[in-house]
Amino acid sequence: MSKVTVVGAGKYGSTTVQRIAEADIVDEVVMIDIVEGLPQGLALDMNQSRPVQRYRTKVLGTNDYADTAGSDVVVITAGLPRKPGMSRMDLLQVNAGIVKQVTQQIVAHSPDSVIVVVTNPLDQMTTLCADISGFPKSRVLGQAGMLDSARFAHFISEAAEVDILDVEAVTLGSHGATMVPVPSLCKAGGKPLVDVLDSETIDELVDRTRKGGAEIVGLLKTGSAYYAPSAAAAAMVDAIITDAGTEMPVCAWMTGEYGISDVYLGVIAKLGAGGVQEVVQKSLTDTELAGLREAATAVKEKVEDLNAL
Ligand code: NAI
Ligand code: 2OP
Repeated sequence: MSKVTVVGAGKYGSTTVQRIAEADIVDEVVMIDIVEGLPQGLALDMNQSRPVQRYRTKVLGTNDYADTAGSDVVVITAGLPRKPGMSRMDLLQVNAGIVKQVTQQIVAHSPDSVIVVVTNPLDQMTTLCADISGFPKSRVLGQAGMLDSARFAHFISEAAEVDILDVEAVTLGSHGATMVPVPSLCKAGGKPLVDVLDSETIDELVDRTRKGGAEIVGLLKTGSAYYAPSAAAAAMVDAIITDAGTEMPVCAWMTGEYGISDVYLGVIAKLGAGGVQEVVQKSLTDTELAGLREAATAVKEKVEDLNAL
């Protein structure tokens, strides 16, 4: 029996559960939160949608980790988005405490699972989860690159007036200021992006992609994005559960690829059974490679903040 757990039944967690359940690729999705009644109520509602949406996967809402036992994949969405007046270090401190406690529970109940981390700040939380779990690094990865690449694809599709499904877009690096959109790997309507849009327009789209999360937070006023983020996490779970070997941009542990080691960084990786099966090195321009190395240095510095907690 295949089983996925999503920790956190907030906006990101609940939409991720819905997407995984509707994909009908696992027997059970467990949704766990500290708020009593929340995951149970959402699960009941989702289960009642099955005859209409035509899928069989059952959702179990719970506050008890015993119900998560033996999960194949666990997605961690538990944590706070940044609130007004909260510094980055404040958020780091609160979410580090949550991710640490959640990871300990996952290790105790699902020792063979693959963990997909979503909680922000993403690069640090993925590192922390890997450290606390003691799992092989291939079994702990983070979600950011799929989302950032999807945002870039959307902007390209609008600017180039090309069908969204005919756009290939890639971002690497970190989920933040040192995100590295990679125009040289992007295509629109089968053509290289540089042949479709001028460099000034590409730069504008790159900048908008880097600020993509903040743009939505500014519009929503409260909370952050969850439709595209949950689509990204669900696609990662799908690739792992079905052992698809699909190449995706994810936050993965680096062991010398691009000359970068000992850091979690956004790169293209093959996802399948067991998590990250291989980091796939792509040919980058000198500028893109320099951006990726800069991002690695920035993430390493940010990880130092964890030690200061
Ligand atoms: P939300 O506030 O809607 O939900 C968070 C949920 O976590 C709440 O239901 C809360 O009760 C739960 N929670 C808190 N402590 C918990 C614990 N110890 N155990 C279990 N559940 C716990 O927030 P939302 O929108 O779902 O976002 C969740 C996280 O995802 C935030 O940190 C946000 O910044 C991050 N995020 C990351 C993205 C990425 O690309 N990596 C994109 C969008 C959001
Ligand atoms: C996003 O990029 C806030 O990380 C979140 O939407």
